[in-house]
Parts: sequence; structure tokens; C-alpha cells
Amino acid sequence: MAKVLVTGGAGFIGSHISEAYIKEGHDVAVVDDLSSGRLSNLQNIINDKKFKFYQTDIRKLDALDNIFAEFKPDIVSHHAAQKSVPHSVDDPKDDADKNIFGLLNIISLIGKHKVKNVLYVSSGGALSKPIKGDEKSSEDDYPSLESPYAITKFAGENYIRIYSSLFGYSYSILRYANIYGPRQIADGECGVIPIFVGNVINNKPSILMTYSDMPRGCTRDYVFVGDVVNANMLLSKTPVNCPVNVGTGVEISMMDIYETILKVFNSNQPIKVVGPRLGDIKRSVLSAEKIKKLVGWVPQVELTKGLQILKESMQ
Ligand SMILES: NC(=O)c1ccc[n+]([C@@H]2O[C@H](COP(=O)([O-])OP(=O)(O)OC[C@H]3O[C@@H](n4cnc5c(N)ncnc54)[C@H](O)[C@@H]3O)[C@@H](O)[C@H]2O)c1
Repeated sequence: MAKVLVTGGAGFIGSHISEAYIKEGHDVAVVDDLSSGRLSNLQNIINDKKFKFYQTDIRKLDALDNIFAEFKPDIVSHHAAQKSVPHSVDDPKDDADKNIFGLLNIISLIGKHKVKNVLYVSSGGALSKPIKGDEKSSEDDYPSLESPYAITKFAGENYIRIYSSLFGYSYSILRYANIYGPRQIADGECGVIPIFVGNVINNKPSILMTYSDMPRGCTRDYVFVGDVVNANMLLSKTPVNCPVNVGTGVEISMMDIYETILKVFNSNQPIKVVGPRLGDIKRSVLSAEKIKKLVGWVPQVELTKGLQILKESMQ
């Protein structure tokens, strides 16, 4: 059994991952400043004797050093981040402060405390290049880096790679597609599903941005959070020392998502169709062949099933 330190572990994805490590019998320490995470996300494990919670900001090096010294992690899973693309454009210094300087604190302590295995969370969507026809984004494409968020996540990947040889740790870079599931809150552009679901439940109209060549709206690759947890568990056991996409390879339009939500939530709430939004990435879908080949990960939960699980979690 290992000691796993999860940064951002009180957030949507990190809390599911922390729970899974506890379920597998590991010791878990969550480091989170609760800026967008919530202690209630950890209610299933907060009283477990193998679980510890530290409320701190990853930019506070001394506090982090004490946590590393006390907990002595074997594995670090770095989920804490500034995660909003629009915020990164409005405040690139804040984005860099959290996503680069916060990460560099973590990396320096990984070296100092001789952590053996690191999981770094990046973004497949933000690091894509524009796709054409039936193309899917591959880890080998050079990203077009259209936002400060994309730049800091890409920089983070490279810091992790460079210091792995200097400090001697193994690592995996998880390039997440768009993740959805229980505990996700309706903030930022990753939150389309909670926004649509919230509107449907409250009988409010949602808004669909369309393009002349894409009348059903933008497309994305949506992965259920339980599948993301499985990818983390596999990569914890078998680090791959490279970036891997964590996506389904299925490109789905916003209108298809909305119609699936209507079916699952038994609603006929109409959607308001409007014109384009400036700066939208129109199409995004990730090839998931590399992670399948390297560790055998295949997503199991398709959209309707994932939405049913989400609905049950809300009852
Ligand atoms: N949700 C998605 O679809 C998606 C897609 C691609 C990548 N990601 C990445 O996954 C990770 C988790 O995202 P999420 O959707 O669970 O978001 P989230 O906001 O629920 O989780 C982020 C957590 O990090 C914590 N945090 C933020 N800044 C911190 C700081 N300075 N110090 C300590 N803790 C801090 C927050 O309180 C929160 O608990 C992020 O790195 C994000 O960039 C998410």
C-alpha cells in the first residue's frame, strides 16, 4: 500500500480519486485551499483513519514542506489548478501563479522528499490543434496554445518531464477531455452538463451557441468521472512517463448532449439557439488509443449511463 498526496483533492475530480485510493487501502492526504473545492465532497472518507486533510494553498512552500515531511508521500497526484480558460485570459498572472509557481513548489518538494511516482493533470482539449474531417487529437500533435491556461498546462507537463530525470521519479501526464459526473459545479466552460442539468431541473431555458457550419453547436469529448478515476488507478500502478489522453474518442455536439439530458431527466424544456461566441474552440475530440495500448484503459460509461448515475446521485 502507498501513501498518496492529492492536491485539489476536495474538488470535483480529485475527491473521487481520493475516495478510490482509500477504497484500495492506501493512505491519502488531501491538500486543498477550498477555493473551489468543498469539504462535503470528502464526506465519505473524511473520518477514515487512513485519510488526512490539509487546508493550504499550493503557493505556500513552507506549509507544504511541513506536510510532505509529516506525510512522506510515495505518490503525488497534482489536481489543484486554476482551471478556467476565460479567467486565464483575464488574469494571466493569477493563472501562472497557481499553475506554474504552485506546481514548481510541488516539484521542488517531490525532489526534496524523494517522491517516486507523480501524476500530473493536464488538458487534452486545451492542448489540441484544430482538427479536420474525422481527425482526433493525438498526444503527438504540437498544441496550438490558444490561451494562457493552455500555455501553463503545457509548461507544467514539460517541468514534470525535465525534473523526472533530475529527481528520479516516474510520472504520467493525464490530458483530460471534458469530464462530467456527480459533484461537478456549474462554473467555467467545463460545466456545460451541470449548467444544462440545472436549467432542465429548474425549468429554465438553456442557450446553444451555433455556427453556420455547425447548427448543433460545438463538439466535445465527454468522459464520465468514474472512468477518469480508473485511468488514475491504472497509471498509479504503471507510470507511462509521457502524456496520455483521457478521452472517449467520441465527438458529441452540445445539442446531442442537451437532448440526452432531456431524455434522462424526462423533460421537454426548449433550448434557445443563438449565434457564435467569440473564441470558442469549435471541435474537440481526443484519440484514446495510446492509454489503451499502454495500460489497457478503455472508458466503460457512455453518456446516457453517466447521466443516469448523475441523476441518481442528485436524489
Ligand atoms: N473538469 C474538467 O472537465 C477538466 C478538464 C481538463 C482538465 N481538468 C483539470 O483537472 C483538475 C481538477 O479539476 P476539477 O474539474 O476537479 O476542478 P475543481 O475546481 O473542482 O478542483 C480543483 C481543486 O483545486 C483546489 N485548488 C485550486 N487552487 C488551489 C491552490 N492554489 N492551492 C490549493 N488548492 C487549490 C480547489 O479548491 C479545488 O478543490 C484541474 O487541474 C483542471 O485543470 C479538468
